[in-house]
Amino acid sequence: MINSKQWPPYHLVEDSIEETAKKRLDKLERLYHMGQSKAWDGREVLDSLIKKHGQPRPDPKHVEPLRRMLGILLWGELAAWAISADLAERIEDFEAKMAATSQAHDEARHFYVLRDYCKAMGGSVPRIGGIGKHLLLKVLHTDSLAEKLVGMQLLVETNALAIFHALSDAKLEPVLTDLLPYYEQDEARHVGLGVMYLPQLLPQLGRIDSAKLVAFQLQCAGYLMAGGAVLREDMDLLGIDQRKATKYVIKIQSDMFDQMLKTPKERGVKKNRDSVRGMLNSSKGIGPAIVNFIHPEGGVEAITPFHRVALEAFTKTSVAIDKAFA
Ligand SMILES: [Fe+2]
Ligand SMILES: [Fe+2]
Repeated sequence: MINSKQWPPYHLVEDSIEETAKKRLDKLERLYHMGQSKAWDGREVLDSLIKKHGQPRPDPKHVEPLRRMLGILLWGELAAWAISADLAERIEDFEAKMAATSQAHDEARHFYVLRDYCKAMGGSVPRIGGIGKHLLLKVLHTDSLAEKLVGMQLLVETNALAIFHALSDAKLEPVLTDLLPYYEQDEARHVGLGVMYLPQLLPQLGRIDSAKLVAFQLQCAGYLMAGGAVLREDMDLLGIDQRKATKYVIKIQSDMFDQMLKTPKERGVKKNRDSVRGMLNSSKGIGPAIVNFIHPEGGVEAITPFHRVALEAFTKTSVAIDKAFA
């Protein structure tokens, strides 16, 4: 239905290319201001939740699998903090720089609150397995701004969002259940930096750099697939539907991709397709087949004997690598 307040759409003919670009940059700057107005006091939130629900004491059968999941998130937050601080320094556009600075502020809070939560839960601070560690190091170490942004904003943030969402949904422990939506809200804003800034950056990539970006994503996808296989047992024990969580990641990534394709033809971008140059869309190509292989519909009981043997071999290898390189 036509919105009578917005018709006729004068802006379509009145905005110059410079004005359209300026609006996009304004939106990026808005991420910074939103980050400031929505910033929550980590100490106050955690203290008030512990006051309300008592010390976090999950069901004993959930403690170890939960600790392993929290280990990935905790060290993922530390990496996200370093990566966003690096982005804030290296991105040249002033407005995107502000958005990355705001993200670094959020990630510092995410790290210390999760660390304090783990301490309140008791036991040692959780460690991260070899696969998660090497994925994060790969994003930390790359010199390419495009790889860093795609690795962080498209791959790491979306997977973190899905894990926060699934853990909160599983209602394992009331302090955690009430705490994680604060994280989800911030992470959704961080994904926004990638959606808004990548369409400005990717059209500048040459053939070699865009091929390198594809190779980088394939390597990251390999780590994520293996990481998913490693977490299978823990997620089962926590009652989390891993196929559903993976589909949630793909849905967010696919939505990001679609939004980026809608980019106006600005800054010399001739075709909208150039806004996603070098990026892989996990909802297309072999993406769905990989999901069906690792997280089969109907569970492992419903698959063919050949599929089961292949999946068990992949899972065992992934678990062995995760332990060996931790
Ligand atoms: Fe975070
Ligand atoms: Fe984040």
